[in-house]
Amino acid sequence: MRPRAWFQAVDDESERYSLGEVIYRSQSGGLLEVVHDMEALRSRSPAAWMRTFDERYGRSRWPYGSGVWAKHEWVQPHVEASNVVSLYEGNTNLFWAERYGKEHLNLGDLWVKQCGTSHTGSFKDLGMTVLVSSVKQMIAEGKPIRAVACASTGDTSAALAAYGAAAAIPVVVLLPKGKITAAQLVQPIANGALVCALDTDFDGCMRVVQRLTEDPTLYLANSMNSLRVEGQKTISFEIVQQFDWEVPDWVLVPGGNLGNVSAIAKGFIEMLEVGLIARLPRLVCCQAEKANPLYRAYQKAAAEQRDLAMSDFQPMQAEATLASAIRIGDPVSLPKAVRALVRCRGIVEQASESELADAAARADRTGMFNCPHTGVALACLEKLRHAGTIEDGQRVVVISTAHGLKFTEFKAAYHAGELPFEAPLANHPVELGSDPDEVVAQIHRALDERA
Ligand SMILES: Cc1ncc(COP(=O)(O)O)c(C=O)c1O
Repeated sequence: MRPRAWFQAVDDESERYSLGEVIYRSQSGGLLEVVHDMEALRSRSPAAWMRTFDERYGRSRWPYGSGVWAKHEWVQPHVEASNVVSLYEGNTNLFWAERYGKEHLNLGDLWVKQCGTSHTGSFKDLGMTVLVSSVKQMIAEGKPIRAVACASTGDTSAALAAYGAAAAIPVVVLLPKGKITAAQLVQPIANGALVCALDTDFDGCMRVVQRLTEDPTLYLANSMNSLRVEGQKTISFEIVQQFDWEVPDWVLVPGGNLGNVSAIAKGFIEMLEVGLIARLPRLVCCQAEKANPLYRAYQKAAAEQRDLAMSDFQPMQAEATLASAIRIGDPVSLPKAVRALVRCRGIVEQASESELADAAARADRTGMFNCPHTGVALACLEKLRHAGTIEDGQRVVVISTAHGLKFTEFKAAYHAGELPFEAPLANHPVELGSDPDEVVAQIHRALDERA
């Protein structure tokens, strides 16, 4: 079976395009989304789909062992298996945060979806495999695509550079100069991309890449390109599959450009429409206080006791935050995110710099190694739990969006006490000499102090 899917204008159902076309915006300049032929997907029973997905999970039959391509029919049916560019992304660990949940939150059913345990260390791999595979398919069909380009806060460029290099497709990345981590910067450099450091912020890079990709031979890889959303929505499929097809009560996700929160909602909504699940979870979009335009809009709507609407939103100049990948003041996927949050009875919460750093450190102490964006989500979780919004006995999933190893500057500065706020969980290394008796005695003393 090869079900159909097409691009459709978010604000006009009648405006449709083939998934083989180079197109990112509707005629009115609005967003496009990928729409699937749900009738065709419904022609197989939910039980049959579940069986198929369970049979494919993590196996080696190309390309289904990838967590994304295991859902091929639901993701990008236009791409033939021979054009899939996969690095076996997805199938990430759903970490039972048992100790963190019980000790700090009185929550026994708390899980962290480790999307950063992936080829380039972030969830961006999920969308990029779909986008680069689609480009390979288009090139095979004769489209004159010379290179693929993106603006990035660091993780998108790393993913695009890796998938482009794997497929021998040239890559251009536009980065805000001095605003990404060393690990993020070195990734596209190592993968041979054309790396451009622009003297602006992410929103400025976004404007330039849109201009650059007005040339149809340069293909746009930002999440405004709705193909990426299709890969990222498999996060939702994996979560319910990992719970033996049960739906959690809450899903918390850090939000910047708002592609991921939209993608996660889309995954749940499509599963509901085909009958794989019977209800939707509630979503929480978690923003850094320094880059919180959606939070401000949500507060406005909440004060008037009504649903969030597009008209509540005002773009802002995002300030520097430890959660550098979500330093975005004018999110491109806003209309999709507003719709997603309304549908999933969503909440928007925010975290200050010290809240996100302490929450990440607290969870690290229980065996995780969190990036600052995951810290934002954990801090928002702590707030919602302490406020009683998240109730006793509920099942909660936090989306961890990147690997902590990409953000070691943040963690090192926290533990060295170099951040401009108190770091109550700072863990300083003990400097010792080489005399065995002295070293052993000091280790005993240190252990006694900690007991
Ligand atoms: C690590 C990390 N977390 C969260 C996000 C936010 O995702 P989105 O921009 O789709 O809201 C990003 C996006 O750059 C990211 O790199």
